[in-house]
Amino acid sequence: MNYRHAFHAGNFADVFKHAILVGLLESLKAKQTPFCYFDTHAGAGRYDLRGEEARKTREHESGVLRLLHATRLPTPLHIYLNLVRALNDGSSHHDLAVYPGSPLIASLLLRETDRAVLCEMQPEEADKLKALFAGDARVGVHRRDGYAALGALLPPRERRGLVLIDPPFEAQEDEFRAIEEALTGALARWPSGTYAIWYPIKLRQQTLPFLRWFARQKISKTLCAELLLHPDNSALRLNGCGMIVVNPPWKFDHTLEELLPVLRSHLAEGRFGQQRVEWLTAE
Ligand SMILES: C[S@@+](CC[C@H](N)C(=O)[O-])C[C@H]1O[C@@H](n2cnc3c(N)ncnc32)[C@H](O)[C@@H]1O
Repeated sequence: MNYRHAFHAGNFADVFKHAILVGLLESLKAKQTPFCYFDTHAGAGRYDLRGEEARKTREHESGVLRLLHATRLPTPLHIYLNLVRALNDGSSHHDLAVYPGSPLIASLLLRETDRAVLCEMQPEEADKLKALFAGDARVGVHRRDGYAALGALLPPRERRGLVLIDPPFEAQEDEFRAIEEALTGALARWPSGTYAIWYPIKLRQQTLPFLRWFARQKISKTLCAELLLHPDNSALRLNGCGMIVVNPPWKFDHTLEELLPVLRSHLAEGRFGQQRVEWLTAE
């Protein structure tokens, strides 16, 4: 386990993932009953953009920084950027000192009665996560394998909620198979949960079997959103990324259709840039 998210915090993939995450959490808040947010691969929760790792790659400069001063944005993106700005209160208008990971973004949006379950296997990252949420009774941090935790902790007592699956994909194509296996068990235990699964796009032939797997499942509704910044024909770089949403909130396809072109227009490199929103299953 060599992956450290600090090298990538705030890059285009984080903007894509976190804007969708905000959209999903805001939809869950439309009902008053409490829900559970379950993060299988939580990371450290908060990243120092002036630290050694982020300074080496400067990935946030072609990610979140490009949107910092954008106006007339779709609501989830607007909320997400407000959270990032609030955490950076006092920093220069053209740079950021810290970037929130998915657990911190979620915790800032959860209500008093909602709950978060965060799993992180890397000891140092898990320690940072524990320190960050030490005073927050709504948040439980587990230093354990997020896939196994799905089998042990689902369904949540609230019976409403969202699972974010955001692995490092160090195992390359094997990670897709690990997600399929974990989801098979999770869906059997909690068929009505909403699941958001992030995936990288390098070569198209690597993602196709994964998308076909969803199409074969007995899930009534599965949405897929993708953002491509480079053609999907090189294994050497992150050409784009996608998010699959199983059991999406009502009209979430409309939310994504509004969001994706805006993300593409701000994050695209040169002339290339594509986005798509598609139903993989729809009863
Ligand atoms: C892409 S990062 C997560 C980023 C985070 N979700 C965010 O959006 O801010 C993936 C994280 O998963 C952790 N990890 C790797 N394998 C894991 C596993 N099997 N269970 C839990 N965490 C794991 C890594 O240490 C890393 O911190």
